[in-house]
Amino acid sequence: MSVTVRVPAKVNVQLAVGAARPDGFHDLANVFLAVGLYDEVTVTESDELRVTCAGPDAGQVPLDRTNLAARAALALARRRGIDPAVHLHIAKDIPVAGGMAGGSADGAGALLACNALWQAGASRAELLSICAELGSDVPFSLVGGAALGTGRGERLRALEVGGTFHWVFALAEGGLSTPAVYREFDRLNEGVRVPEPVASEDLLAALAKGDAEALAATLSNDLEPAALSLRPSLADTLEAGRAAGALAGLVSGSGPTTAFLVRDAEAAAKVADALLASGTCRAARITESPAPGATVV
Ligand code: C5P
Repeated sequence: MSVTVRVPAKVNVQLAVGAARPDGFHDLANVFLAVGLYDEVTVTESDELRVTCAGPDAGQVPLDRTNLAARAALALARRRGIDPAVHLHIAKDIPVAGGMAGGSADGAGALLACNALWQAGASRAELLSICAELGSDVPFSLVGGAALGTGRGERLRALEVGGTFHWVFALAEGGLSTPAVYREFDRLNEGVRVPEPVASEDLLAALAKGDAEALAATLSNDLEPAALSLRPSLADTLEAGRAAGALAGLVSGSGPTTAFLVRDAEAAAKVADALLASGTCRAARITESPAPGATVV
């Protein structure tokens, strides 16, 4: 018996970051949008817990119990007193350590798959609570669509999206560590009073209307200066995408993937070609949003 779950990547169309909290996390107003790049997690009964991964970036994925897919299986097994003897296979298409929640996707996917395989009967609410224990972005990987995340990003309110948005993602060489980017954010803001993070009403209205121009005018990522400070070459990628006619470009989450909002599929192809030709990224991926959350296939 095996179960396969497909889980989308995300881009943060707004990432407002507050000051560091006593627990080291940062309060956020995090507007997540799921995009149509997917990992697939397949769980199969086995004699012991093991993780395998296939895909262009598979070599960078940890296959031990630090992998979020393994941690998700262990968390559900512990709650139910089940032996977590399963083989978790990840067919990876989401960039690794790219700021697109690829690891979180695998955690949410493994959790949903194990819940089905073991007939563990965890409710949506229990699954969301396990997701929140696994990581700040994991609950959103489960629900998909669009949502406003508050707290450290794990408390979600679903958002309306009134149309399809077209995106080009420029994949960078190597990854960026999310904790390192937050540390750089703290360093850049030393001595500065960081305002409370608040969701932009204009941005939420643009999403609800499906208005790409209005969304482009309101995209923002407070982690972008920190990601650019750690990886200055991303400025060249942003410039190349904007020059090729993207409505807007920004760093995706903690980076180093950059995201370009474009008017339509034709503009997407043009921007992707220009990004590749510029030599400022290792690959360009075209996709649309919103995308559904974790789904058994
Ligand atoms: O929750 P998650 O494990 O994905 O977070 C990874 C790291 O990112 C945290 O250890 C923390 O350094 C940083 N982080 C943060 N504030 C958040 C989310 C993540 O500082 N809201």
